Order: sequence, then structure tokens, then C-alpha cells
Amino acid sequence: MGIEIAGIGSYLPERILTNADLEKIVDTNDEWITTRTGIKERRIAKDGEATSDLAIRAAERALKKAKLKTSDIDAVIVATITPDMFFPSTACFVQKGLGMNSAAVFDISAACSGFIYGLGIARDFLRCGTYKNILLIGAETLSRITDWKDRGTCVLLGDGAGAVILRNSNSDSDILSVYLGADGNSSGLLFMPGGGSRNPATAKTVEDRLHYLKMEGNKLFKVAVRAMADSALKAIDMAGISPNDVTLVIPHQANIRIVEGVAKLMNITLDRVYINIQKYGNTSAATTPIALEEAIYEGKIKKGDIAVLVAFGGGLTWGAAVIKI
Ligand code: UT7
Repeated sequence: MGIEIAGIGSYLPERILTNADLEKIVDTNDEWITTRTGIKERRIAKDGEATSDLAIRAAERALKKAKLKTSDIDAVIVATITPDMFFPSTACFVQKGLGMNSAAVFDISAACSGFIYGLGIARDFLRCGTYKNILLIGAETLSRITDWKDRGTCVLLGDGAGAVILRNSNSDSDILSVYLGADGNSSGLLFMPGGGSRNPATAKTVEDRLHYLKMEGNKLFKVAVRAMADSALKAIDMAGISPNDVTLVIPHQANIRIVEGVAKLMNITLDRVYINIQKYGNTSAATTPIALEEAIYEGKIKKGDIAVLVAFGGGLTWGAAVIKI
């Protein structure tokens, strides 16, 4: 028995922030952002709109595609680093918003790799028979932890959500492999120092701008290319297939140059790599399901095809999954 995506949906906030808009906020320009990152615009959640609001909309679309009711869902997993609150989990707010009154619900924190980590967890729950229909969501409102005075990060990030419903199936569809990795020793390259038990919120932490995402982009760049290519190749190997069997690679969208570097190391041409960074920038855990939904919608992958999902992010964390659609 395999595992299938019974339904998939995504939600991107309506508000578009273009490179021209950013030129008015920080010392940057469209030419730098486009050539160094590939990003043209990103989406920003409305005032008062939280991560769970985005997640709920994506989940509703996935449920509709799957022709399932909320009562059919027996587990909700939300991958996010921008939860509505420290607690309860964002998954609890999603449960409430969807009008569900049972199911196991929890969040996972693995930054940009969160959705791939979630796929691994969901696959094992399904294989063990613990749950039947799992709603897995990647959702972020990175705009809430973006330092709009830091041109090194604010041009990169955006908001969004993507959701899948996974279930066991007699069809050919399956999650063929999941490979996960991490290096906590490099946690200082991408993190948000303020607000947790290390630096609880005070007037000083606010004044010192500790409640914003901090990133050493240059150092991350090289690790990202190597870790994503390695992860993808390991997952391909674990699945018992070769890179030639892969219809489409769907990489995390942090930087177009990272994506190109990964494709080169994997010896895969860019026409077999999905890219939507120009529209949304880096939406962390939401990136993978949003890109997967678009790739399916655009017909770039269809039933029977093999896709490799691969991501890298804060932690540092990385991972890849090989799925047969
Ligand atoms: O989500 C997963 C984790 N994230 C990543 O993996 C991100 C990885 N890193 C990157 O994508 C890239 O390193 C960045 C896009 C963040 C930066 O690109 P870069 O080519 O590595 O630029 P840099 O940091 O080496 O900066 C080059 C120059 C600097 O000026 P000087 O010192 O050479 O005069 C920066 O100050 O570009 C400057 N710069 C900018 N200029 C215009 C940095 N940000 C900007 C900006 N606009 N927005």
C-alpha cells in the first residue's frame, strides 16, 4: 500500500510587495535583487492576519480537492517558524478555524525544511496505521519577523501557506523516501534571538531589534547548495531510483542562484527544476507545498511522475523527499 496526496491547496495573501516598493524602504534596487536572488515580488499578509489564517485557507482548498470533510481528518501537522503564539500550537488554531473537534494536532519547527520533516512524520504515522487522513501544512508570516531596516534579509522573505492531505492508497502513488539532516552547531547563521527563554521580551530586546530574523546569507549560501544537492541525491538513492527517473525537482526557493547551483551538482537541467521564487520570494516552510501545488496545477507533474522535494533552512536543517504523484 502506498501513500497519496488526496488533496492539495495553497493560499497567498493578496498584497504584493514589489522590488520597486522595497526601493522606497531600504537602500536597494530591482537590479540587485533580481540578479542576486531572482525575486521580483513577494506576498504580505494583511494587518491582523496570522499564520493560522493563511493555513486555514490553504487547508480548506486541499479539503475541497480531496472531497473530504473536516471530520475525516484525524491529525493536523503545521510546519512553521512564525506561529500565531508560542502556545497553543498554530495547529490548534487551524483545528478551531476549520471547525474540527477531534484529531491530534501539533506544530513542528524545522524552518524552511519543516514541510519535508512533516512529510517524514506523516508518512510514518500512515505506515503504522496510527492515522488515516493527515492534514500537513507549511505556513508562514515571515513579514512579522522581518527587519524592514535590514536590506540583507527584507528583500528575500514573504508570506504564504500550502497544505496537503495524505492518506494510504492502493494506487501507485507513494512517498518513496524521506531523508532528513541538521547541524545545530551552525544555528547562529539563521535565527531569531529575542522572545524565547534565552532572551525573553523586554524593552531592551525590542530596542536591540532581537525580535527579527538574523541571517548570515553569504555563509549560508555555500552550505545550502551542497546540503540540498546531497539531500536530494541521498533521497533518490534511498528510493532506489536514479536522477534520470525524476520528472521534476522542487527545491526550496531561497535564491535562484542556490537553485541553479543545486541543479548543477545534481547534473539536472533547469527545465526539470520548478522555480517560482520570482513571485513569492522565500516563504520558509510554506515554499515546498506552494511550489508543489503550482507544479501540479501547471501540469509540470502528473499522476505517475516522480518529484523530488528538497529544502534547507534555519537550524540548520535540510531534507529531501521522493514522491510518486
Ligand atoms: O531559506 C534558507 C536559508 N537562506 C539562504 O540559504 C540564503 C542564502 N544566501 C543568499 O541567498 C545570499 O547570500 C543573499 C541574497 C542573502 C545575499 O547575496 P550575496 O551575493 O551573498 O551578497 P552579499 O551578502 O555578499 O553582499 C554583497 C553586497 C554587499 O555590499 P558590499 O559589502 O560588497 O559593498 C551588501 O551590503 O551587496 C550588498 N547588499 C545589497 N545591496 C543592495 C546586500 N543586500 C542588498 C540589497 N540591495 N538588498
